[in-house]
Amino acid sequence: MFSWLEKNPFFFSLAFVFVFSIAGLVEILPGFAKTARPIEGLRPYTVLETAGRQIYIEEGCYNCHSQLIRPFKAETDRYGPYSLSGEYAYDRPFLWGSKRTGPDLHRVGDNRTTDWHDYHMWDPQSVVPGSIMPAYKHLYSNNVDFDTAYAEAYTQKVVFGVPYDVENGVKLGDIRQAKSLFYQEAEQIVHDMKSEQVKEAFKNGEIKKIVALIAYLNSLGQSRRTSQGE
Ligand code: HEC
Repeated sequence: MFSWLEKNPFFFSLAFVFVFSIAGLVEILPGFAKTARPIEGLRPYTVLETAGRQIYIEEGCYNCHSQLIRPFKAETDRYGPYSLSGEYAYDRPFLWGSKRTGPDLHRVGDNRTTDWHDYHMWDPQSVVPGSIMPAYKHLYSNNVDFDTAYAEAYTQKVVFGVPYDVENGVKLGDIRQAKSLFYQEAEQIVHDMKSEQVKEAFKNGEIKKIVALIAYLNSLGQSRRTSQGE
């Protein structure tokens, strides 16, 4: 039936390119459509959480951790309800990850607490004997960068239309308001932490990177689905 095609190198090449581009098109075309609609009640990241997300990226946590729970029983039993595309609507860039040296973190905020992270990030083996995760002690002495995080959240709002400053939603405000909200939110985390070093620094107006990272880890989970509390 296709013998005529086999005798026409030009059309054969065209047919070849078409057939082999189908898988590529299937992957590429949805990207041009409107981006994933947020699931109901999903709130954007606060500035402190955004700062934590930047730390997660700069430390390369995604090299060992995924954030995508697949719809298989083994995964949902271990990590919680499987991930939905609309949960990533405000994630730029995505942090799905491709390797699981450690567990998936997409719902870690539902089952771990601030003080657990505090002990774990300082010395993973102290809470999980035999853990091969590295310690992140430098996050307890380096300060978080408010300006970059604010700039990112502001960009998300202006360029991508992420709904900050809507009724009952996450307040971004101008840079002064944002900074005071940033401190208020950090205060809560610092309060729940045990580290004297971090508490002492906070009294002097410094917010350590670990505080933002924990705020971000706490936001990963179903709790971020609604600002009204689910
Ligand atoms: C070299 C690989 C590696 C890197 C890099 C890494 N982790 Fe881990 N992580 C692990 C392993 C392995 C575990 C499981 C053992 C444990 O809990 O310590 C783990 C566990 C965790 C847990 C506990 C999850 C749970 O549900 O029990 C959290 C939270 C976590 N990592 C956060 C981070 C963060 C944040 C970073 C970046 C600052 C990071 N990890 C970097 C390997 C890694």
